[in-house]
Amino acid sequence: MSDNLMEKVVSLCKRKGFVYPGSDIYGGLANTWDYGPLGSQLKKNIQDAWWKFFVTDRKDMVGLDASILMNPKVWHASGHVASFNDALVDCKECKARIRADHLIEDALDDVKVEGLELADLDKLIENNKIPCPHCGKNNFTEARVFNLLFQTHIGPVAKDSEPVFLRGEVAQAMFVNFKNIQESSRKKLPFGIASVGKAFRNEITPGNFIFRTIEFDLMEFEYFIKESEWEKTFDYWIEEMKKWLDIAGIDSKKTRIREHTADELSHYSKKTVDIEFDTPFGWKELYGCAYRTNFDLSNHQEKSKKNMEYLDPETNEKFIPHVIEPTFGLTRSVLMVLLSAYTEEVVKDADGNEDTRIVLKFNKKIAPFQVAILPLQKQQIEKADEVFEKIGKKFNCDFDTTGTIGKRYRRQDEIGTPYCVTIDFDTEEDGSVTVRDRDTMEQKRIKIDELENYIAEQLELD
Ligand code: GAP
Repeated sequence: MSDNLMEKVVSLCKRKGFVYPGSDIYGGLANTWDYGPLGSQLKKNIQDAWWKFFVTDRKDMVGLDASILMNPKVWHASGHVASFNDALVDCKECKARIRADHLIEDALDDVKVEGLELADLDKLIENNKIPCPHCGKNNFTEARVFNLLFQTHIGPVAKDSEPVFLRGEVAQAMFVNFKNIQESSRKKLPFGIASVGKAFRNEITPGNFIFRTIEFDLMEFEYFIKESEWEKTFDYWIEEMKKWLDIAGIDSKKTRIREHTADELSHYSKKTVDIEFDTPFGWKELYGCAYRTNFDLSNHQEKSKKNMEYLDPETNEKFIPHVIEPTFGLTRSVLMVLLSAYTEEVVKDADGNEDTRIVLKFNKKIAPFQVAILPLQKQQIEKADEVFEKIGKKFNCDFDTTGTIGKRYRRQDEIGTPYCVTIDFDTEEDGSVTVRDRDTMEQKRIKIDELENYIAEQLELD
């Protein structure tokens, strides 16, 4: 099944309307992707479920929707202009451009060199320890450092204006708004600010479909605490992040926790733990949780000259809060949800011949459509419209009238629709429809009047 899993998922995504190459008719623009009818709905469902679980279901979390462009001073103060860097090397033989830290990761996996660090890279390359992953030769340039912030200009004449940055993370908006939000919402510590939106990074080695792109969507929150509470809060959020995997329908058996080594830590972090996913291209970061101390608020206080302190109403103590930051790539989640859901099953067709059924076994609430309404023949379209009127506002419903019913079931399996509702010859007589379950393929007759409750119950049971 895992043979060519990535190729199968990428091809299904284009064929069925989940994800297309960006600017496709002009030959694309490298590493940009557009989310089609099913992909945009899947992405929205994941985002909505995330917002519900981490924000609206809780008393200690509030939201923020901030602008992508911020005063460049923000990115100087946050340390991103100076330190948001990756090192790269070029293979002189095959011209492949490779991130130095990825070479090291691969070396750790393949060459089993203990205690390897970025600083050792040149030494290891010289000693012929690390082969190019593309051509196998060992002839690299020296490592060079690149800043990942994406620059643009405000105003019509670029050369007259100071460059501004597209945000490299959403987090900074939550730090610079800390006082506005704390005072207007009257939240007491501990509390969190959550935000979802686009981020941009001039990645050296984007790729693997929507895994690493230059433009992507992030869901993250800053959870403000007293310094003394950081360890227990960190552990608490790791457990909540694990619960989220099940809600999203990400196969937790394919995940592992990995703590960053000292040389991997971001410039702002004292401790970072990644949740990694076993992708067809190796173990890769899915999500992260970082203890950012009060690095960001302190720097913004110093550079903006605006007070970022919190007054503890119980102790009257004033201090700059510390922060735990769980962060989730939304577009990366879409990929891991697809990789987790993709299933091939050998089944018998109507004539008893073996056939392969492709099913996207999404978590039923996350699936782009929860229900497909299928009139068996033209004569049932009117009745099917009535069913759509009854349940279409409660569930996302597809409406498919073309092809044999068997073909329509397969089409819905392939896009992960949990329930197919067929309106047939008997519906007019008995007021019932056939409901077919995506995973078990079992079929049940349900009264149209009970359909909404029945599906709602099934989705809740999931
Ligand atoms: N505010 C913290 C932060 O941005 P990060 O580990 O650099 O941390 C957060 O990124 C998450 O964003 C990652 O765990 C990953 O899910 C996702 N991510 C990072 N770079 C990405 C890229 N180039 N394309 C898609 N997703 C990316």
